[in-house]
Amino acid sequence: MMRLRMRPWFVTGVLGLSFVAKGAITYLHAETGSFAQTTALPKPTNLRVLPKASSLPDVYTRMAQIQKDLGVDCSFCHDQDPDSKQVNYASDENPRKETARAMMRMTQDINEKYLGALGDRQYSPPITCGNCHLGQMHPPQFEGK
Ligand code: HEC
Ligand code: HEC
Repeated sequence: MMRLRMRPWFVTGVLGLSFVAKGAITYLHAETGSFAQTTALPKPTNLRVLPKASSLPDVYTRMAQIQKDLGVDCSFCHDQDPDSKQVNYASDENPRKETARAMMRMTQDINEKYLGALGDRQYSPPITCGNCHLGQMHPPQFEGK
């Protein structure tokens, strides 16, 4: 079972996340989605939507995007021990993780099945979680002007 400890911190207005995984330290820069990695990281063990062969940095990049799109902490979807605050990312204990999987499949379908079927699509980049969520955990109701 993979266990990671996560500690968010703020450096001169740039949101960074520090990951400590089996002695490996990775710095994820949420704004650029880039990683400075010091040691090899363990492979993800419980992927059902993302490609199974995804590396941990690939998964973190996706997660950082999702986190920003919904404006939530990692533990919104991932199981966190209330005492030690350790987050178990591979666990499916937190029911929001399964909801998020359904959302990932839906977003993929919107892009590939529906928008992909438009022969002449040319106006917008792929739809993301953020297009509906607008930085909030629940998509706000749209009020037209
Ligand atoms: C909105 C929900 C949500 C948020 C927020 C979220 N995750 Fe995830 N995470 C998921 C889902 C869903 C999966 C499983 C994806 C799959 O099945 O392909 C996952 C998988 C992972 C995995 C792979 C675990 C394994 O071994 O299979 C890691 C690591 C991870 N997330 C880290 C993070 C980190 C770090 C954050 C915060 C920056 C974060 N997640 C925020 C939903 C979320
Ligand atoms: C087409 C619009 C749309 C897109 C795209 C979308 N969502 Fe959602 N999402 C919703 C709606 C609507 C709800 C509220 C569902 C309800 O009423 O329970 C929701 C709810 C959720 C919840 C449950 C929140 C809670 O409080 O339990 C999670 C988690 C979530 N979305 C994650 C994601 C993730 C991750 C993505 C991108 C992979 C995503 N969503 C993309 C529309 C969307």
